[in-house]
Amino acid sequence: MSIRLANPGTDVRSIADVVNAYELAPVEIDMVKQWFDYMPPGRIAHRTVATDEAGLVVGYGAAVHEAWWPEGEFYVWVGLLPEARGRGLGRRLAEDAQLFLKQRGASLLTSEVRDDDPVSQRFARHNGFEVTSHTFSSFLSTEAFDETPFRATLAGVEFQGIRVCSVADFGDGPEARRALHEVNALTSRDIPGNEGPDMPFDVFETWICGSDWYRPAGQLIAVDKARWVGVCAVQLLPQSQKAYNVMTGVLREYRGRGIALALKIMAIRYAREHGARVLYTSNASNNAAMVALNRKLGYQPQPGKYLLAKSVIEAQTSVAQVEA
Ligand SMILES: CC(C)(COP(=O)(O)OP(=O)(O)OC[C@H]1O[C@@H](n2cnc3c(N)ncnc32)[C@H](O)[C@@H]1OP(=O)(O)O)[C@@H](O)C(=O)NCCC(=O)NCCS
Repeated sequence: MSIRLANPGTDVRSIADVVNAYELAPVEIDMVKQWFDYMPPGRIAHRTVATDEAGLVVGYGAAVHEAWWPEGEFYVWVGLLPEARGRGLGRRLAEDAQLFLKQRGASLLTSEVRDDDPVSQRFARHNGFEVTSHTFSSFLSTEAFDETPFRATLAGVEFQGIRVCSVADFGDGPEARRALHEVNALTSRDIPGNEGPDMPFDVFETWICGSDWYRPAGQLIAVDKARWVGVCAVQLLPQSQKAYNVMTGVLREYRGRGIALALKIMAIRYAREHGARVLYTSNASNNAAMVALNRKLGYQPQPGKYLLAKSVIEAQTSVAQVEA
């Protein structure tokens, strides 16, 4: 059993397996590849794997600082395949991350742990992490979804002169991407618990628009004359015939008019037309508007995650998913 640096050439499939043992929505291999490939100036990433006696990857650890985050802030996570727990590998992954974080002068760590995993919660608490908020996923069968009860809302949105279309209708050029970034940034500020700085445009353009999953037709938008007033982004996950509703937001002055509902119905149509049988979404438990909206559409809630944080004077790591 050993810990070594992750090798993107050989380990991405195994890393996806480890992460998917804990993630609420599927993480596909291409997404893991992108975690490695995306290294703009200022991003710091340390990724390790744990191997068993046969040399097979059974665990994964990551410590990441995004370029636009405050100095010293890192996201840290380690996890093991469930059958590899209880053999000290999680602790070793954590110790390796701790050493790295110490060298990098980390001062604030964030992490996450499933709300149905008491062993990992205890470990996180033991290592000084505190719960800052709770999020949960929910899913909808696109095949069973019936939009009949929402036809009046769709007609009402159209009647107000709001057009629901996609970035593809605007050609996905630089101007469209600027507008897409702006509506995302303005609405993301109102997500409960989202206190960090806005994602800068250059990061948005590379990380989102440059990602393998980005499709202009899957970036649904609500437009009032020339103004982009709402957004709803869908990530297709073709390997699993699923899709993920990444973000939905409507500008403050346009809320309460059925626009988010109309966008989310278009997202369901888009996902279904592109082979997704299930559409996932994820949101903070205290996001009353989104929780109510998803319930209204028939999304089925799933187990969630506690988001964690820890201030460190002398850098130590703590992790969510390790054996006790
Ligand atoms: C969540 C958000 C997208 C809703 O947009 P909206 O256009 O105002 O929503 P709609 O008008 O389409 O509302 C549709 C339904 O959602 C629910 N809803 C919307 N706002 C609500 C609120 N403030 N409180 C309770 N329920 C609400 C209601 O069921 C409503 O139907 P009803 O009006 O018939 O009761 C918007 O508040 C927003 O942009 N918030 C910030 C970004 C965010 O948190 N996004 C979610 C990230 S996961």
